[in-house]
Amino acid sequence: MLGVLQWLHKLCTVAGSVFPGFGTMLSAAAAERNKEPILAVLRDSVRTGRPLQALEVSSGTGQHVVHFAQALQNITWQPSEYDHQSLDSIEAYRALYRLHNVKPAIHLDASLPHQYWGGILPESLDLVVNINMIHISPIACTEGLFNGAGAVLKPQGLLLTYGPYAVNGQITPQSNVDFDYSLRQRNPKWGLRDISLLSSLAQRNGLFLEKIVDMPANNKCLLFRKESLV
Ligand SMILES: C[S@@+](CC[C@H](N)C(=O)[O-])C[C@H]1O[C@@H](n2cnc3c(N)ncnc32)[C@H](O)[C@@H]1O
Ligand SMILES: *[C@@H]1O[C@H](CO)[C@@H](O)[C@H](O)[C@H]1NC(C)=O
Repeated sequence: MLGVLQWLHKLCTVAGSVFPGFGTMLSAAAAERNKEPILAVLRDSVRTGRPLQALEVSSGTGQHVVHFAQALQNITWQPSEYDHQSLDSIEAYRALYRLHNVKPAIHLDASLPHQYWGGILPESLDLVVNINMIHISPIACTEGLFNGAGAVLKPQGLLLTYGPYAVNGQITPQSNVDFDYSLRQRNPKWGLRDISLLSSLAQRNGLFLEKIVDMPANNKCLLFRKESLV
């Protein structure tokens, strides 16, 4: 029973609200809960004393990008999504918040090579953020994320991922085991990924796992740094 509840909470169950003149702003309960803890990690790990360029892969509703952009105004954010309803929602948030540092959302399929990432140039970004996608998409999306981030990040750039992960083949606690099971029931290609798998994917793309931050609700932030070749 817990598995189902957790599943409902954690999967992007969304409620929509339409504002006059705007599109449908979707709202995900999980995003509302985790946006502040993730912002705290960004504050701790990104030096914002100069203008920075960031890409969010799989922005979902748009709740995260407007929250981060409001708080961290020296970062210019490029939101992106695969799903067209989500793209509309991100645009609705943009229209309402009117932030100078959030670009129009682009369609981006994380599983594709970076040449298909909406014209984002190699080594042009300081930060790539990806929240709650890795376990709710086929592994090709995760591979594409690390490939793409390795290409579009500048040397010393940062990839931040957030979600539930397995550690050395173990999923803990039981609620995450149940969540993993419910994901695989929904789609056999989904499920929690092991941090060691992500770490080796990262290394193949010139990134290394610099830090793991424990987050509320048995999630983690993983911080991958692009190695400079000097
Ligand atoms: C659980 S939602 C998380 C959304 C948002 N990051 C959040 O935390 O609220 C998973 C997201 O992955 C996106 N997604 C699925 N396949 C994708 C792909 N091939 N490329 C990019 N994003 C994808 C979905 O559209 C969905 O918005
Ligand atoms: C933003 O960047 C400018 C330099 O472009 C710097 O003077 C300012 O302190 C930065 N703001 C923050 C909040 O770090």
